[in-house]
Amino acid sequence: MEKNAVSTSILSADFLNLGRDIEMINKSETDFIHCDIMDGVFVPNLSFGLPVIQQIHKIAKKPLDVHLMIVHPEKYIQAFKNAGASLLTVQYEVCPHLHRTIQLIKKAGMKAGVALNPHTPVSLLEDIICDVDLVLIMSVNPGFGGQKFIENTYSKVKRLKELILSKKSKSLIEIDGGVNFDTGKKLYRAGSDILVSGSFIFNSEDPQDTIHHLKEVY
Ligand code: DX5
Ligand code: ZN
Repeated sequence: MEKNAVSTSILSADFLNLGRDIEMINKSETDFIHCDIMDGVFVPNLSFGLPVIQQIHKIAKKPLDVHLMIVHPEKYIQAFKNAGASLLTVQYEVCPHLHRTIQLIKKAGMKAGVALNPHTPVSLLEDIICDVDLVLIMSVNPGFGGQKFIENTYSKVKRLKELILSKKSKSLIEIDGGVNFDTGKKLYRAGSDILVSGSFIFNSEDPQDTIHHLKEVY
């Protein structure tokens, strides 16, 4: 995986023209396609599921970065692998057996990520940080695109970076929610590797150009 990468979130794509939007992403400099899976239980919203991931995978030229905002994610690991996920991220808050879940994701042949809600401290990752490929820090409360960035995220990124360095972990840091040129620049400076961005990209006049500039804000 690359450093200073962008993962474009299709939650803000035009679902009536999803194929067209995936083609735009294919042509852009984005590194990953971020797919948000919501179950209406862990988060107060529903999004899309496996059949949509399968279809996207058929035409996607970028790896699928799948973010599971669902309870019991361990039940669906193989299904998401079969649907085409390259990277599978589970929420810390729903995984009492996180170590096992991470191992199962890797065994299925995917990169394994763990996501933290805004209130979940990075210190809880001390004993798992060497096992994960990626930590996703939620910079909004999960469930919706287009929300306001939570400022505490910068110090959280710095603390996570310190933890990664102190444990000699190879984990990447991904940030999700409220990313734009301004927050993106500060996030890269704080130590982030991958920025997820949805509404900022899709609401801009030239999404491809916005992606290009998001990779260059640092
Ligand atoms: C929120 C999702 C995000 C969302 C980000 O629950 O996890 O991936 O798409 O959207 P923006 O970039 O609009 O904040
Ligand atoms: Zn997400």
